[in-house]
Amino acid sequence: MDAKQRAGEAALQHVKDGMIVGLGTGSTAKYFIEAVGVALRNGKLRDIRAVPTSVNSEKLANEFGMTVVTFAQTTRIDLTVDGADEIAPDLTLIKGLGGALLREKLVAQNSAKLIIIADAQKLVTKLGTKSPLPVEVTPFGHEASERFLRDLGCIPTLRRQKDGSILITDNGNYIFDCKFTEIPDPRDLNLELATRAGIVESGLFIDLTSMAIIADNATVWTIAKP
Ligand code: 5RP
Repeated sequence: MDAKQRAGEAALQHVKDGMIVGLGTGSTAKYFIEAVGVALRNGKLRDIRAVPTSVNSEKLANEFGMTVVTFAQTTRIDLTVDGADEIAPDLTLIKGLGGALLREKLVAQNSAKLIIIADAQKLVTKLGTKSPLPVEVTPFGHEASERFLRDLGCIPTLRRQKDGSILITDNGNYIFDCKFTEIPDPRDLNLELATRAGIVESGLFIDLTSMAIIADNATVWTIAKP
């Protein structure tokens, strides 16, 4: 079993009957969704309703016959389980290499608890040192957003599909993958991005998670917010 699968399956113990569960996006979250789906099928879990963070995760939930609800149908999400691209020691995160950062952050901010599941490669001492920071922008004026991002000290690359066409998010936007050498102050950067027109959302997740379940090929362990 690979590390992502170990982490994904370990999160199942936090899901209880009757919960409304936010479903993350990506290859690690996929293992979690499958684990919930199997537990529902064999009766180990009951009465779970799911809020997916992407069209892909919704498809997977539907394959398992999960009840999917929207924000129109619920005012509460008890628990969200999602992956990450970088995890700093204080549990600030970079997310969004899977392209679902906006819905992931919206679901996380509306969840009573966010648990991050990841393989140990995602642990960093400083955000921005391994992964680029995904930033979702409006198509209108994306050239101006690119200049703004560059002036912040990164190299922004417009995300494209394998065929060379510009990747369009589930929300109809573009993504710039912004490579910093490191992000010295993620809180400052988050605020700067949040107040700029044309920037829809960034993959910086600050003060949103209190627990990460990390796995390597031999062990699974938990990191709690210090
Ligand atoms: C998607 C995400 C993913 O959670 C993140 O990219 C991690 O993906 P993976 O589990 O495939 O490594 O933020 O937008």
